[in-house]
Amino acid sequence: MKIGILGAGSMGSGIAQVASQSGHEVVLFDTNAEQLDKAKGKLAKIMARLVEKGRVTSEDAEAIQGRISYITSMSDFAGSGLIIEAIIENLDIKKKVFAELEGIVGADCILASNTSSLSIASIAAACKKSERVIGIHFFNPAPLMPLVEIIPAVQTADNVTTTARNLVDSWKKVTVLAKDTPGFIVNRVARPFYGEALKIYEEGVADFATIDWAMTELGGFRMGPFTLMDYIGNDINYTVTETVFKAFYYDPRYRPSFTQKRHSEAGWYGRKSGRGYYDYAEEATKAAPNTDTVVGNQILNRILVLLINEAVDAVFLNIASAKDVDLAMTKGVNYPKGLLQWGNEIGLDNVLSQLDALYAEYGDDKYRASVLLRRMVNNGETFEF
Ligand SMILES: NC(=O)c1ccc[n+]([C@@H]2O[C@H](COP(=O)([O-])OP(=O)(O)OC[C@H]3O[C@@H](n4cnc5c(N)ncnc54)[C@H](O)[C@@H]3O)[C@@H](O)[C@H]2O)c1
Repeated sequence: MKIGILGAGSMGSGIAQVASQSGHEVVLFDTNAEQLDKAKGKLAKIMARLVEKGRVTSEDAEAIQGRISYITSMSDFAGSGLIIEAIIENLDIKKKVFAELEGIVGADCILASNTSSLSIASIAAACKKSERVIGIHFFNPAPLMPLVEIIPAVQTADNVTTTARNLVDSWKKVTVLAKDTPGFIVNRVARPFYGEALKIYEEGVADFATIDWAMTELGGFRMGPFTLMDYIGNDINYTVTETVFKAFYYDPRYRPSFTQKRHSEAGWYGRKSGRGYYDYAEEATKAAPNTDTVVGNQILNRILVLLINEAVDAVFLNIASAKDVDLAMTKGVNYPKGLLQWGNEIGLDNVLSQLDALYAEYGDDKYRASVLLRRMVNNGETFEF
């Protein structure tokens, strides 16, 4: 099947590589010819490195590069079985592009968006055959991150969902099915990892280095929240948080933080600007954490119970199955353990009592426990996968 990719930025170029590695003929389009050159150069470098490491043969590397055509006219999308759009995150532009695509491709071509925050229903509404539109959400970098969220809109036909999921499964990705709601699974369930860490800092409980130490050393997370936010970029992470907050009708659970807003306003984006929560200048001294395990465990538990609560609530609201929620967090953001499994292990009753204590102390809806969590504790149930 010929696969069309729209947008040759970080995501589009990575998705093109994934599809080509699986043997597809790929056409990659961008309005900016420079981006196409950059994508081609980047892939050549990646392939050279993989050959050097002995991970692919030089013949395969050549074939993978040879299967991708870099196009400057959308008319070359004709004959594709699937188009994945990965252009700028702007609804009006995406809608325009989807309407245009319909005039080029055949009636059976599936049209997918890699959007992180827009509703698939709103993009699908731009098409005459809206039942062919679906969300196929990769994680960055697409060739390395195994998770792909498959998001049918209310309009999407069942056979489109099945075909899209089977196809991406055949690309050796781990697919999960998510409801078309803000943040889908990962970007919804992960919010407390950032939000609660920022709140703990704002309350003066601990500094950035100590919170990061607690989450990595005591919690087993690969990166602490502040290191991760500096890596993602505070501008991007703040915008995602604000978008999710608004999209959830200002639910306090997703409230953004002034600390992050000010860091972003100051231009302290993180690694890319040389300074974020940490200073990345060569001569800078690394901040040392306070390694008191009592404080560390308090920090870890407070963030962890909120994460587990989000994961439970996602199951309660049928955003995804329990199995898919746990897969999403381990395969999309490298959590050391699925959150529901983690809840089972530390005891759902323990999670509930910690949440209820926070709720009683703060009087803030941010800490309200999911109805499903309370029901399961009352019935003595645990999650089964
Ligand atoms: N970066 C991430 O971590 C990430 C992860 C998952 C999903 N996404 C989503 O993927 C999409 C792309 O993100 P990105 O980070 O690759 O962006 P990017 O800025 O790296 O690339 C976007 C590309 O789209 C091109 N473009 C813009 N308008 C276009 C048009 N009308 N037609 C064709 N090409 C056009 C730009 O020239 C650019 O090359 C967004 O919807 C984003 O929300 C991003």
